[in-house]
Amino acid sequence: MFKQVPAAEALAGKYPEWLVFVTAANPDGPPNFMPAGWCMVCSSEPPMLAVALGHGRHTAALVQRTGEFAINFCGEGQHDLITRSGTVSGRDVNKLEVLRVATAPGKLGFAPLISGCARAFECKLRHVYPSGDHNIFVGEVVAAHIAEPAVSNLVNFGGWYSAATPATPRS
Ligand SMILES: Cc1cc2nc3c(=O)[nH]c(=O)nc-3n(C[C@H](O)[C@H](O)[C@H](O)COP(=O)(O)O)c2cc1C
Repeated sequence: MFKQVPAAEALAGKYPEWLVFVTAANPDGPPNFMPAGWCMVCSSEPPMLAVALGHGRHTAALVQRTGEFAINFCGEGQHDLITRSGTVSGRDVNKLEVLRVATAPGKLGFAPLISGCARAFECKLRHVYPSGDHNIFVGEVVAAHIAEPAVSNLVNFGGWYSAATPATPRS
């Protein structure tokens, strides 16, 4: 049996979900990043990832402008960084600097990779699809990275967070 409820009420209970940091270069200033939960794999060959970014996001504007971004899967212990980086905009502050985020350049050297993440994917923007108050950005993965030593993925249970996977896969 089901009870009909507003969509927002049903969606509020859909957790857990993976969280990623989307990073983007900025031709006129510091690179930026934001946490996003609405991210998925959308092709295996070529490997592609899609992420829904709200219209007002500074990160979305940078991805549109540069045609490049990186998806960094959040790692265990990054819950504080998720909260803090998801409540301010890079339009107003240099988040990487203010939040003292360590980064690595990646292979292609455009969007930075965020230290402490479990895995990271450098992407070239291939499509942008309108989706209500968000746009879906589809990127082709041009370089993939995993943390060394391994880091457990983090999952969001709707405001509280947990390590989701063993640091190393079962053999
Ligand atoms: C746990 C969490 C998940 C979020 N998921 C998304 C998302 O999937 N898409 C989105 O556009 N914003 C999402 N946000 C909101 C953005 O991260 C937030 O608006 C951020 O400040 C935007 O930063 P920017 O303006 O520097 O790009 C999320 C925030 C949090 C805390």
